[in-house]
Parts: sequence; C-alpha cells; structure tokens
Amino acid sequence: MASSTNLRLCVLFIFFAVGCVCMQDEQLHNHHGPLFTFGDSLVDTGNNNYINTRRIAQANYPPYGQTFFKYPSGRWSDGRVLPDFFAEYADLPWILPYLHPGNKRYVYGTNFASGGAGALHETNQGLVMSLKTQARNFKKVERILRKQLGRTGVNTILSKGVYLIWIGTNDYSVYASDSKLFSSYSLEKYVDLVIGNLSSVIEEIHKKGGRKFVVINLWSPNHIPLVQEEAVASQGRDARLGQLNHLVELHNGQLYKELQRLTTKLKGFRYSYADSYKVVEEIASNPAKYGFKDVKVACCGSGKLRGIQSCGGQDTLKEYQLCENPKEHLFFDSNHGSDKGYQILAEMIWNGDLNTSRPINVKSLFQS
Ligand SMILES: *[C@@H]1O[C@H](CO)[C@@H](O)[C@H](O)[C@H]1NC(C)=O
Ligand SMILES: *[C@@H]1O[C@H](CO)[C@@H](O)[C@H](O)[C@H]1NC(C)=O
Repeated sequence: MASSTNLRLCVLFIFFAVGCVCMQDEQLHNHHGPLFTFGDSLVDTGNNNYINTRRIAQANYPPYGQTFFKYPSGRWSDGRVLPDFFAEYADLPWILPYLHPGNKRYVYGTNFASGGAGALHETNQGLVMSLKTQARNFKKVERILRKQLGRTGVNTILSKGVYLIWIGTNDYSVYASDSKLFSSYSLEKYVDLVIGNLSSVIEEIHKKGGRKFVVINLWSPNHIPLVQEEAVASQGRDARLGQLNHLVELHNGQLYKELQRLTTKLKGFRYSYADSYKVVEEIASNPAKYGFKDVKVACCGSGKLRGIQSCGGQDTLKEYQLCENPKEHLFFDSNHGSDKGYQILAEMIWNGDLNTSRPINVKSLFQS
C-alpha cells in the first residue's frame, strides 16, 4: 500500500518534472532570449528599494511612477525605463529587479542595475551595487539556472541572452566634483579605468556564455538639466561642464574602440553600440518632431531648469515644482528621462540605422 502510493507519487513527480522542463523549453522557443540589465539609475527598475542607500539613490516615492505604473516603482522616471521597452519589443514578460523578493525564475532575465552605481567599485561605495557587485550577482543567477536547467540548458539560454549595459555617468560626476581617490589621475587615465572595468565585466559575462551585448554610450552633459543648472548658476566660472564634456567624449570614443577590440578577442562576441549621445542630440535639435514642448527644462525639480535634484521633496529640499504633462518633457527630473523620452530613445536604438546603433541595431541583435 505504502509502496504503491510512493510509486504513484514518484510517477506523478517525474511527469511533473518532465512537464515543467518541456514547458520551459517551449516557452523559450517562442520568445527571444532573456534580457539581463546592468547599470545605474538610467536602467534600475527598483533594486535600490531593497538596499540601504541612505536615501541618496532611491526613487520609491511620488511623483516617480505617476504616469505609467501609477505608483513609485523605484524607477527614476514618471513611467518606464529603457529595459522595460526592450522587454516589450522582444515579447518578453515584465522583468523583475534582481533584489525583488518575488524574483525566483530567471529564464527571461533579470535586472542587476543600481541607481548611483559606477563601473568603478569606489563610486558611491557602500551605498549602491557597483558593476562588480552586479557581475557577482549575475554569476549567482547563472549557478541557479545551471541547477534548474542543466549545463546544456543554461548554455542555450545564456548564449541567446542579451546583456544591456549602461554605466559611467556616476563615475564621471564623482571625478568632476571631488575625486579625492583618483585626483592624481589624468582624464585619459581615469577613462581608461572606467572602460577597463566595464570591459572586464563583459569578459566575465562572456566566460559564462553571454554573447550578445547592447552597450549604451553617455549623453552629452550639454543637454542634462542638472549640469546646465549648475553652469548657469556659476555663470561659466566653473570648469566642470568643460571637464564633463571632455570625459564623456573620451568615454564614448574609447567604449566603441573597446567593443571592436573585444570582437577580435572573444569567441562569438556580438554587440550593438547604442549611440544615445546622438539620439539626444537629434531630439534636442528637433523637439517638435518628437512631440516634445521642452527638452531643456525637466518636469520635476527646482531651479530655473528644474535641474536641482529635489523631485519628490524627500531630501533636504522639500519644495519642488512638477509639470502638468510629463510627456512634453524629455527629462522627468534633473538628470533622468521621462517615460516618453525613454520610449523614443528605445525605439530609435531598437530599430536604429547606423547613426544610432552600430554595427547592428538592438532588434537584429535579439533576433540573431
Ligand atoms: C578597475 O578599477 C580599479 C579601481 O576601482 C583599478 O584599480 C583597476 O585597475 C581597474 N581595472 C581595469 C582593468 O582597468
Ligand atoms: C544618418 O542620418 C543622416 C541625417 O539624419 C541621414 O541622412 C543618413 O542617411 C543616416 N545614415 C545612415 C547610415 O543611416
């Protein structure tokens, strides 16, 4: 009696286990590969809600999220950010942030990004998850997937996966404000460190089976309300804007060169270099064409350009202004895009021509 129950349970279990594996396989064949995201507040979908950043890098209070989710999800936007749009275009379900307690399955990918993070471990150290920490978390996920799917299964998934990386802004703003740690470094040498660390994370992901990378370059500081507000306030006496511009130019040039170098070095390595610098330049010169009324003034914050970071009034600055229609603004707060802004950026690099994504666009990379 007992043994026949055991047998039945066992058969049921085998049936269930096989059923699960087949179903997962089938689901994956119907979709593009998973999406794994690494980076800072430009792509964080809520990881910082679960770590103690001492409030310097959180967006889990109103009016963040007001347009799309109708609640503050932890994204620095009135709605979605770039990986949300890519997941949608790739027919993937919503992808949870890595630290979300409900995140147990990783077959569609996950998001490791952390607001305030840099490619250098020292950038906002102790408050955020640096790129290094994000790579360590990716390896944890790889081990979990390996247990669930076996060696062949995990290799298939990870090689079909797309790895989205957008990082560097915080490294450069730390350097340009007060870089006690790296003050002896020239701009060129500092950029080498940032690119070197970014590149070694790409190599680590490649070692675990990752092949397809979307790497986004940095926006021009000339279009960021936060930077412009400071430049206006200092009436040009501050050398910060010039320095930031130089750093971003060096970074973007080096980044592209590094991707070309990796192509010759790493087996099966493919990439799309997404030129967000050019896209923002294009939008800023033709706002009406993209449906924007204002590309200079942010929707939420204080100061002339709402470039002072006070959106939501959670920090020392309680007073802030909020626009009526975030859709009309490229920037939602002092240094982050609006839902609409990110949507246009996402479309332009998903379907991009050689001006915006080289050598292939994000769509072709997903499909390849
Ligand atoms: C990465 O950055 C660290 C400082 O955080 C530096 O010591 C190291 O040399 C960098 N690595 C590369 C490969 O550039
Ligand atoms: C790049 O953009 C310019 C101006 O918008 C356009 O004329 C040109 O055809 C584009 N180049 C490619 C390779 O798509």
